[in-house]
Amino acid sequence: MRNSLPLTTLSKPIKVMLLGSGELGKEISIEAQRLGAETIAVDRYDFAPAMHVSSKRYIVDMMNKEAIKALAYRERPDVIIPEVEAISFEALEELEDEGFEVIPNSDAVRIAMNRIELRNVASVQLNLPTTRYFVAENEEEAIEGCEKVGYPCIIKPEMSSSGHGHFKIKEGSKEEIRKGYTYAIGHARGKSKRVIVEEFVELETELTVLVYRYESESGGISTETCEPVEHWRYGKYHYIESWQPSVKDKNILASAKSIAIKVANRLGGKGIFGVELFLTKDGRVLFSEVAPRPHDTGMVTMVTQDFNEFAIHVRAALGLPVPKVDIISPGASLAIYSSLENSWSSVIEGVYSALSIPGVGLRIFGKPFSYKDRRMALLLARGKNTEEALEKVRKASSFLKIKQ
Ligand SMILES: Nc1ncnc2c1ncn2[C@@H]1O[C@H](COP(=O)(O)OP(=O)(O)O)[C@@H](O)[C@H]1O
Ligand SMILES: [Mg+2]
Repeated sequence: MRNSLPLTTLSKPIKVMLLGSGELGKEISIEAQRLGAETIAVDRYDFAPAMHVSSKRYIVDMMNKEAIKALAYRERPDVIIPEVEAISFEALEELEDEGFEVIPNSDAVRIAMNRIELRNVASVQLNLPTTRYFVAENEEEAIEGCEKVGYPCIIKPEMSSSGHGHFKIKEGSKEEIRKGYTYAIGHARGKSKRVIVEEFVELETELTVLVYRYESESGGISTETCEPVEHWRYGKYHYIESWQPSVKDKNILASAKSIAIKVANRLGGKGIFGVELFLTKDGRVLFSEVAPRPHDTGMVTMVTQDFNEFAIHVRAALGLPVPKVDIISPGASLAIYSSLENSWSSVIEGVYSALSIPGVGLRIFGKPFSYKDRRMALLLARGKNTEEALEKVRKASSFLKIKQ
């Protein structure tokens, strides 16, 4: 079945192609549709969240250059918006050379997906504070790297996302480091044998600064930031709770914003960037990594800002203005993960009780398939302060259970 297409649009009909159709893509698609755009959702599997709300869908291997290019030639989108890291960046580069518009640009996508490239840009080129790190290509170099950065440390593959292939080294026996190196390259995206060894810092909190770049009236690009989002992972690699605004010291937040602006301006192009930073227990603000797209922890902006991160991304991508965004209320988000192993079409129980708490909202992503630690839904709440908002989503989550 084909959905109907918008017939009143911006000054010309606009087609947006989303590469990646997860929960972030779903919101991007909705925001694009709100502006009268036609949206095309692409992912590696059918029934992905953004496909439920888009005009069309395609299921292809997103690492296959020819597959991505073939879709672009067939659909001729006005903008291509990558939503995940696992995309053939060669396809994006070649399409850009042929005149397609990639958001924010193919080079930013290439740099941000590669931890070693990104460190080179952030630490060497921009001289931003990061954790101590060392690049290793084999077991012996990994041992040398761990000795240099100190213990505890963490070995990560050159390319991966969602914490895949991360291995924490506690004491530093050679055996442990060899195991860590093998684990990291075994869980890498692609065939690279390179890893990054990072000093493991004690976190006070984690911050995401959403920075956006949009076309200004003069024809140049303006850069703005949202108020920092704070988040906590309870020792896991994926985020559990995020909240905004942060109540950390003003100077800390100012230095987080200034780092984030430098990163976004270096990567360039139009759109939003989720810049991840660590605030360490000893008071350091360190750049960690960046997603050149809306960020999962930034989903909280759906209740806290007058324009959420998805609306900002779409407006910026389409060349529309995004003047200063304001916080309309303190708020919190809490991500719901599945604990089921391989389950098709699961259900969420306890929704009635969760939604009985005043001000609590729920987003069910509608993923067809769940597995352990897959994010399936999100709770959102406003409050008179972030503590109250957090209490609401925590209470709501105690009622929810994902079942077969
Ligand atoms: N060097 C580090 N020290 C302390 N915690 C870390 C370090 N690196 C990663 N982490 C933790 O792991 C999470 C995921 O790491 P990250 O590098 O962002 O990987 P991914 O690309 O998978 O998101 C971080 O948000 C943080 O909680
Ligand atoms: Mg991260």
